[in-house]
Amino acid sequence: MTSDITTEPWGNTVSVEFDEHRIAWVSLNRPDKRNAMNPTLNREMFATLDRLENDDRCAVVVLTGAGDAFSAGMDLKEYFRETDGKPRSVQHKVRGEGTNWQFRKLYNYTKPTIAMVNGWCFGGAFVPLVSCDLAIAAEDAMFGLSEVNWGVTPGNLVTRALAETIPTRDAMYHIMTGEPFDGRRAAEMRLVNEAVPADELRERTIELAKKLTSLSQWVVRCTKIGFRHSRLMSWESAEDFLYAKHDQAILFDSDARANGMNQFLDEKAYRPGLGTYSAAGQE
Ligand code: COA
Repeated sequence: MTSDITTEPWGNTVSVEFDEHRIAWVSLNRPDKRNAMNPTLNREMFATLDRLENDDRCAVVVLTGAGDAFSAGMDLKEYFRETDGKPRSVQHKVRGEGTNWQFRKLYNYTKPTIAMVNGWCFGGAFVPLVSCDLAIAAEDAMFGLSEVNWGVTPGNLVTRALAETIPTRDAMYHIMTGEPFDGRRAAEMRLVNEAVPADELRERTIELAKKLTSLSQWVVRCTKIGFRHSRLMSWESAEDFLYAKHDQAILFDSDARANGMNQFLDEKAYRPGLGTYSAAGQE
């Protein structure tokens, strides 16, 4: 693995490492504060994700946390204590900086994204977690929607992110009680795709990332954006939009479709039920 944290201006609160699989390992990097997201981190994360969208070393982003936490959520000191008494416009600005990367950038990201939940995941951290396309957690990672304990409602878009992902009963239970739960339970609720023992977390994440990068990147991109947006459309609008995505994928990577059809229909070299088609090398 190569590290560019000393040569590229990712910032002090974010680190990025690239590996031979074209995975960009993006870490929230305030381990002494359990990677709580303060205004600096929020700005640096937006800038980092923006740069990685145009960086060929990155075909997939894995979002994780430095040290033993994924993220302890919004920085309670810098977001609450230090903005108390400040004009509403200031409070509005710092909130917006969080949403900019945690939802706007990440939810609509042009490359595949995987959240690798390595430890504590609290409150505001649920937004980037859900905004990632896929998520894998350590079985013993601890999750919590602790806001009720702080005398506030769940911040940012946490409630919306939960409604997007897990059953209503589970969401209501955890936002109303603040009771924490572990990675196994997160997988049962489908908050994450799966939970694995902590010592297998990285390998399993690499395995999943490699599956994504072996496919046509344009097809994966159009597929995920198609799903993200069409689910809120009428069927009529969705039909139009999804065919536009379908045509866009063919326009940008005509080889992927031709190769896939050729392998199945002519060469009989590939059957979907017996393995994953690979478009390795195609962009
Ligand atoms: N905001 C600001 N600072 C935070 C923070 C947060 N959300 N979470 C942790 N920190 C800080 C602590 O204040 C402490 O700072 P200090 O060293 O200057 O005193 C440091 O991070 C380490 O935290 P600590 O509680 O000692 O670590 P721990 O490993 O014992 O516990 C947690 C980790 C995550 C269980 C615990 O820090 C916690 O419950 N944090 C709050 C999580 C939360 O409710 N988030 C919701 C925010 S909306």
